[in-house]
Amino acid sequence: MDTAMLYALRDPLGVPAHPVIFLVLAVLTWALHIAAVHVLLGSSALAIRGAFSAQDHWRRLADAMVNTAKVAVSVAIVIGVAPLLFVQVIYDPFWYTSNVLSAWWVIAFIFILIVATLALFIFYAMNYEIRHKKVRAPSAMIIAIIGFLVVGFIMHALSVQTLEPDQWREWYAPNGVIDASGRSIHAFDPWRFGFFILLSFPVIGIWLFGYRRYLQGAGESDAGYLDFLQRLGTRLGAVGGVISLILLTLWMRGLPEDISDFATGIWPIAAAAALIVAVAYPVLLGKRLDRGMWGYTPVLVATVAMIVVATMREAVRWVTLFGVHGYNPLDYKIAMDWYSTGLFFLTFGVLGGTIVAYLLTIAWQAGQTEGTYTPSRAVNLLGTAGVVLLLLWIAQYFGFGLWTAYK
Ligand code: HEM
Repeated sequence: MDTAMLYALRDPLGVPAHPVIFLVLAVLTWALHIAAVHVLLGSSALAIRGAFSAQDHWRRLADAMVNTAKVAVSVAIVIGVAPLLFVQVIYDPFWYTSNVLSAWWVIAFIFILIVATLALFIFYAMNYEIRHKKVRAPSAMIIAIIGFLVVGFIMHALSVQTLEPDQWREWYAPNGVIDASGRSIHAFDPWRFGFFILLSFPVIGIWLFGYRRYLQGAGESDAGYLDFLQRLGTRLGAVGGVISLILLTLWMRGLPEDISDFATGIWPIAAAAALIVAVAYPVLLGKRLDRGMWGYTPVLVATVAMIVVATMREAVRWVTLFGVHGYNPLDYKIAMDWYSTGLFFLTFGVLGGTIVAYLLTIAWQAGQTEGTYTPSRAVNLLGTAGVVLLLLWIAQYFGFGLWTAYK
């Protein structure tokens, strides 16, 4: 596929703001998406492991992890939409072609995700207070995990297929015979997929440090449980970290010949270093883990590490599409639209910021309170501000739309 053809597949209307904004947001939001996916997969795995254990600490952890997974699935799905939008804006020739070539799987993605999410909620509903009861319907959790893995694999294949425009014609018409069924998955890389999925282990390990600190804040009385969390978090971080580094190395070694130099460049080293720092950090903190807000910092360090990993992933796309195929997402035609760009940042910063701040404050304070939690006046005001802003947003949405249509 020559470069001119790739450019011809672009949206002739252009993009509504500088493409670098979309590129940066794609990387940042994808880092958050994959971090939520890791928490989802990691907490689901710990939930099922703990559900079958006779030890009280494991059973208590299973209880907490089912609740974590239930929230993480929503976060993973909602935050997944953001990179989806940014990627299809600046990489539309690639993303849409890949989607059309495997259209059947793109549609199946939604149904598999629905079934997997339902299965997770069935497990949750059947195992209320799992800590004190025998596990019920464990197969629901297994189905959920398998479903999430299939969904992740579909996303993976779609991403990898975008990187091989040279193959598209052959995939569309193998040996010259058109196959418009969209039923095939045409390309995947087990090491790359394995790397992104098994990162769940170090990530959930680090997450356990945050959970531990949260319990300390709520005056946790079972010191044995806190020790158990610290030991498990450290072990998951160490073992999961090593496995991830091996998979990263295998992925890099298997890169196509035309970008094989990438494997020895700065990005894989930066990603590996960020992962090592993230898993070593809680251990290095030592006793400080139990002091002040230090206990939360492993989660912050891991978030930065995920952004580095996401940037490396983007660099692979850059050297492939720009370096090999001559496609530069940053020279997209700009049709500057201040209204939609301003609205986006206002929605994100003001509306989103207020509502997320309200929800996090409520969740945080409720968890740290013994007995019934009553929000303060300031917190209630924040909630009311969120609702008013949302109503204003809806009014401007329909108002501006109607004004544009009928002016
Ligand atoms: C909950 C199950 C999910 C799992 C386990 C999962 C997993 C993954 C993985 C492993 C990747 C990296 C693929 C690679 O680069 O090789 C990925 C990428 C991505 N996922 Fe998810 N995902 C899930 C759900 C979703 C949902 C619901 C959305 C959107 C609504 C979404 C949107 C994306 C996007 C946009 C990308 C990046 C595409 C690109 O940059 O080329 N994911 N996902």
